Amino acid sequence: MSKLALVTGGAGFIGSHLCERLVSDGYTVISLDNYFTGSKDNHVDGVEYREGHTKDIAGHVSETPDILFHLGEYSRVLTSFDDVEKVWDLNVRGTASVLNFCKDKKVRLIYAGSSTKFGEFDDANDGENQSPYAYFKTTNTQLVNNYGKWFGLEYAITYFYNVYGPRERAGAYGTVIEIFRQKMLNKEALQVFGTGEQRRAFTHVKDTVDGLVLVGEKGSGDGHCISAKKEYSILKIAKAFGGDIEMKDALPGDRNRSKCNFEKMKALGWKASRDVLEYIKNSHG
Ligand SMILES: NC(=O)c1ccc[n+]([C@@H]2O[C@H](COP(=O)([O-])OP(=O)(O)OC[C@H]3O[C@@H](n4cnc5c(N)ncnc54)[C@H](O)[C@@H]3O)[C@@H](O)[C@H]2O)c1
Repeated sequence: MSKLALVTGGAGFIGSHLCERLVSDGYTVISLDNYFTGSKDNHVDGVEYREGHTKDIAGHVSETPDILFHLGEYSRVLTSFDDVEKVWDLNVRGTASVLNFCKDKKVRLIYAGSSTKFGEFDDANDGENQSPYAYFKTTNTQLVNNYGKWFGLEYAITYFYNVYGPRERAGAYGTVIEIFRQKMLNKEALQVFGTGEQRRAFTHVKDTVDGLVLVGEKGSGDGHCISAKKEYSILKIAKAFGGDIEMKDALPGDRNRSKCNFEKMKALGWKASRDVLEYIKNSHG
C-alpha cells in the first residue's frame, strides 16, 4: 500500500509543486487548504483536495497520514503589518491544531519555516522581531521544537529562501520575481525599494521541493536551510529583467539579507542546481 502524505497549503505556490512531486513518487496525497491565497488553478492530478482551515484539521482528516508537510500558513512580510490578527489566526492558531493532530496520531511533521527568522538589518540581527510574519513563523518553529521535547513528536523544520518558479504569484500576496515578470509583460517600470542592495538567495521551487522531500525522508530536528548558495541584490535582479527601474522608499521589515547554515542540507546530499538569472533570461524571451 502506498504511503499517505498530508500537505497543508497544497493549493498554494510551493505546496502545489510538492503535491505534484509526492504523487509522482507514489504517495497517496491529501491537501488541506482554505484557499486564502491558494487557487484551484494550482490543483494537480492525483491529489485529493479538502477545503478548510488548519485549526479544524482533525475534523477534515480522519485518516492517519505517514507524514504531514505543513505549508498552509499566511506567507508574506509586507502585508503582515496590516494583517496581524489574520497572521496569528492562520499561522499560530492553525499550527497549534496541526501540532496536536500530529501528537495525537503520532504523525511525522515537516514544518515550512521562513528564512526571515535569520534576517540581518542595518542595526539589528533579530530577524524574528522585524515583522509580524517573521515573528509568528519564528514562534511556530519554537513550538514545533517544544512539541519534540515535551511530547516526543517526530519532526523536521525547514527554512525556505525566496522561492521562485512556475505558479509563483504577483499582486498583493505576490513575490518579487513574478511581480517583476508581470511588470515586464505589462511594460511597466520595476519598483525597487530602499537602496536595492538588499540581497536574497533566490531558490527555484523545484530545488526547494527536492530539498523538502529529502528532509521528509531523512531529516530530523531544526535547521534545514533550503537555500541556493548565491545571493543577488534586488537591483541586480531588476537589471537582469532589463526594464525601466523606479527607485522607491524603503519598506518596513525589509532585511539586508538572511543568514544561512548549509550544513544540514549538505549532510543530506542536497544543493540547489538552478540559478535565478537563467530563469529570468528564459522567462521573458
Ligand atoms: N515563497 C517563499 O519564498 C517562502 C519563503 C519562506 C517560507 N515560506 C513558507 O512556505 C509556505 C508556502 O508558501 P507559498 O509561497 O507557497 O505561499 P502560498 O500563499 O502560495 O501558499 C500557502 C497556502 O496555504 C493556504 N493557507 C494559508 N493559511 C492556511 C490555513 N490556516 N489553513 C489552510 N490553508 C492555509 C493558502 O490558501 C495557500 O494555498 C508558507 O508556510 C510560507 O510561510 C515561503
